[in-house]
Amino acid sequence: MQQEAIQEITQAPTLEALQQVKTKYVGKSGLVTKELGALGKLPPEERRARGAEINVVRQAIDAALQEREGILKRAALDEKLASEAIDVTLPGLPLPAGGLHPITRVYDDLIGIYQRMGYEVVEGPEVEGEHHNFEALNIPWYHPARDLQDTFWLEDGRLLRTHTSNMQIRYMVEHDPPLKMVSRGKVYRYEATDATHESMFHQLEGLVVGEGISMADLKGTIAEMARGLYGPTAQVRFQPSYYPFVEPGADFAVYWNNPRGESKWLELGGCGMVHPNVFRAVDDLREAAGRDRIYEGMTGFAFGLGPERIAMLKYKIPDIRYFYANDPRVIGQFRGELG
Ligand code: FA5
Repeated sequence: MQQEAIQEITQAPTLEALQQVKTKYVGKSGLVTKELGALGKLPPEERRARGAEINVVRQAIDAALQEREGILKRAALDEKLASEAIDVTLPGLPLPAGGLHPITRVYDDLIGIYQRMGYEVVEGPEVEGEHHNFEALNIPWYHPARDLQDTFWLEDGRLLRTHTSNMQIRYMVEHDPPLKMVSRGKVYRYEATDATHESMFHQLEGLVVGEGISMADLKGTIAEMARGLYGPTAQVRFQPSYYPFVEPGADFAVYWNNPRGESKWLELGGCGMVHPNVFRAVDDLREAAGRDRIYEGMTGFAFGLGPERIAMLKYKIPDIRYFYANDPRVIGQFRGELG
């Protein structure tokens, strides 16, 4: 029986199986227990020897049970540890990361350049009065320039601004010269869209006013911006152009080397010397608001440009409409790299 029991014990594959073997031999009605119980029926002279014999068997079985239990318990623990092990060297799960929109990046570049030149950065309303968007900028209702900037009107007579030049007026009403400011924001035009025209786009407006400001200051400033955008060898070109709120007025372009190695003129925006009528309109608004007329006789320059053009070329985006179509295949390319 001892041999049989020990064989069964050493072969028990699990703790449950071992428990069954234990019950079979040394449980309440186990085989060994029964033999012990039968001792009482033996004559006293045999009882002693028989008792000792059974005890030896029982001890051997107990020792075997204990040893097997230790082995099985350790194996179970090892298995549990192995199955719950964490490999801390595995790469983590990637978290989806956002990124800055290409227009935001171009704005950040531009604004950085102007901040280094000491400009204040401001923003202004997209819903604007006709006076600030047109009249004060020397564009009366009958002026043909209004046709170039047709816009969306609100029922109360206000409009969605067609350019950021409204901020020239707003800033001068609030601030005294000398001043240097840039203003960024969305503008709107009622026009057919195509690869280079949107009905909502962005502009960066610049305004410098003081005494003795000249066209040379304007050209130097635009050249500095071009160098900031395209490196120290960037060149700028000015072509005469007409905007009612400047005189003289110009369009400016930068010469740049595109990724295909070609050199091209890139038309960026309009600029010019602030028209005296604009200063007069600002003084009128100031007077109405109880402020000094201070701009008459001042000199200054202004410029306005569209960052979409810069972003399209910089990031090789062939159609302006991709910027606002919310197509993740376009915008997703800029995910994760902030800056
Ligand atoms: C103006 O809006 C003037 N306010 C600029 C200015 C400011 C001139 C200060 C003088 C002094 P213009 O309409 O040309 O000008 O627009 C300026 C720039 O906005 C353009 O060079 C172009 O880059 C961008 N732009 C104009 N229309 C659109 C459009 N529909 N879609 C995308 N970009 C446009």
